[in-house]
Amino acid sequence: MRIGVIGAGNVGKTLGGQLATKHTVKYGCRDPAKHPGIGAAPVPSVCDWAEVLLVCTPGFSTAAEAEALATSFGPGVRGKVFIDATNPLSAWPKLEGALPSSYVFKAFNTIGLEHMAALGPQGAAVFGGEAAAIERGPITMLYAGAEEKRAVAAAIISDVGFDPRYVGPIRYARNLEAIAELWIHCGIGAAGLNPTVDWGGDFAFQVVGGRKG
Ligand SMILES: NC(=O)c1ccc[n+]([C@@H]2O[C@H](COP(=O)([O-])OP(=O)(O)OC[C@H]3O[C@@H](n4cnc5c(N)ncnc54)[C@H](OP(=O)(O)O)[C@@H]3O)[C@@H](O)[C@H]2O)c1
Repeated sequence: MRIGVIGAGNVGKTLGGQLATKHTVKYGCRDPAKHPGIGAAPVPSVCDWAEVLLVCTPGFSTAAEAEALATSFGPGVRGKVFIDATNPLSAWPKLEGALPSSYVFKAFNTIGLEHMAALGPQGAAVFGGEAAAIERGPITMLYAGAEEKRAVAAAIISDVGFDPRYVGPIRYARNLEAIAELWIHCGIGAAGLNPTVDWGGDFAFQVVGGRKG
């Protein structure tokens, strides 16, 4: 597939790097010259070219910011699948509200960057910096979005290296963002967000059991 990654930062380059082993990846950037050597191009041209888009920009905190981001994508968004990895932590404005002609999913937001690519044999997540992989296989990735394009989002999640678990329509994005907020507050306590708790970033929340999907 042709995959466009909007935002060539830590998350964008990590997910894009994983997907580039199986797909053609381009990065949509505000100033492509700032990101040499990675196939960066202006945001609207990447949105036009891509079949699936990953949104890896900083989280927006108002509906106006979400609208401005969606407008910057240009007219090539109609009917396309967007996977939104962002975490707006002060409010829950909806990217899907700003992209009414597209299929917006939420995924990849409930895990820390260090485990988006740190995969061991058979794709199992590695914790503790060694082969302490979860024996039952890849770690689970919760995702929300439109039922009719669910298979597209699941394929992207699998190709990054996770076990996709569908939680329902995009209205559940706010629940996934709440999980992410908890992850951040437990994992980065040292940054002062939640000074009484500090698990470090070397963990993930995992679904155990249940039917796959
Ligand atoms: N870090 C984590 O562990 C983690 C985990 C899960 C989810 N997330 C979420 O993932 C998102 C990205 O996090 P990150 O750590 O990758 O941040 P980051 O390293 O700061 O990267 C964000 C990138 O977005 C680009 N950008 C900003 N505004 C843009 C716009 N309007 N259009 C296009 N590109 C734009 C910036 O590039 P330029 O300034 O060069 O344009 C920058 O390279 C955040 O919403 C975060 O909450 C992070």
